[in-house]
Amino acid sequence: MSGSRTAPESSASWAEGWCGRAPGRVNLIGEHVDYLGGQVLPAAVDRFTTVRGCPAHAWSVESEVAGGLAYVRALGEELGVGPHALRVTSQVPPGRGLSSSAALLVAMVAGLAPDMDGVEAALACRRAEHRATGVEVGIMDQMASALGRRGHALLLDCGTLEYRWVPFPPSLVIAVLDSGVRRSLAETPYNQRRREAEAGMPRRRRHVDSELERVQEFAAALEEGRLEPLGELLRASHRSLRDDFEVSTPEVDALVERAWRAPGCLGARIMGGGFGGAVLALLEAGSETGFAAALQGVPVLFCQTADGAFARGGGR
Ligand code: GLA
Repeated sequence: MSGSRTAPESSASWAEGWCGRAPGRVNLIGEHVDYLGGQVLPAAVDRFTTVRGCPAHAWSVESEVAGGLAYVRALGEELGVGPHALRVTSQVPPGRGLSSSAALLVAMVAGLAPDMDGVEAALACRRAEHRATGVEVGIMDQMASALGRRGHALLLDCGTLEYRWVPFPPSLVIAVLDSGVRRSLAETPYNQRRREAEAGMPRRRRHVDSELERVQEFAAALEEGRLEPLGELLRASHRSLRDDFEVSTPEVDALVERAWRAPGCLGARIMGGGFGGAVLALLEAGSETGFAAALQGVPVLFCQTADGAFARGGGR
């Protein structure tokens, strides 16, 4: 276990305790467009972080999520709550592309403020992440963890925060592959890429414009039950992230190409902030064993879509 404990157990009043749970997420398509107000298509997945907490004299976290204390303290400040002792258990492995930080923060709001509006909860979590890390992430991960829905992907407009759920067919399986290249976004040129895209650098813009079209095509194909275009859209997204946005690495490119050739794989691409990290692949259900065998030695998580922590009622 890592993380830190600053408060003695005796100072915590577990009788006033609360519990919150939130899922990790994948992003099907729409990479490096959320912080520009574009549309993205993530999904909450069936790996969960659970946070138990109670008021205490100082913030403390018992957690396997690295850096947990900075995140939860920042979220406490955002919510205007005093110090708590927290116990975190998580099926969302850090550094594996499922956004363990969003799951941790959203789970904490779900426990502390369960009646909060899901969008407001996601916004508070993003502000906390900015505060804790200095990385100017978009709103995609927090919204997916808060408002994803089982059997669906979340088509989210990051400019207006309007969203709707798009059916995700049971005939597909989500695979998340670990490139083994570890990086924390704070050590990468993530903020720099954001600035370059905001400044309209031609190649960065070319990625953004083409990716936004791919999001529309991907969502339309899912809504119409047409699965054939999905693989080529994933491949095109990877090429664009590799060549125009330049957030891939040779190790990740090699892994993506290996995944493309594996049995049952429709398509694959680098996922998330990039510069290493995770690869997303979509597979025909039933091909998991053959796929994993072809990728021998590569850690693979097979995921299903899941409900977000605040997923009730309709979209907006
Ligand atoms: C990270 C950030 C997201 C998003 C992706 C890239 O996962 O947390 O907000 O910007 O990178 O699409």
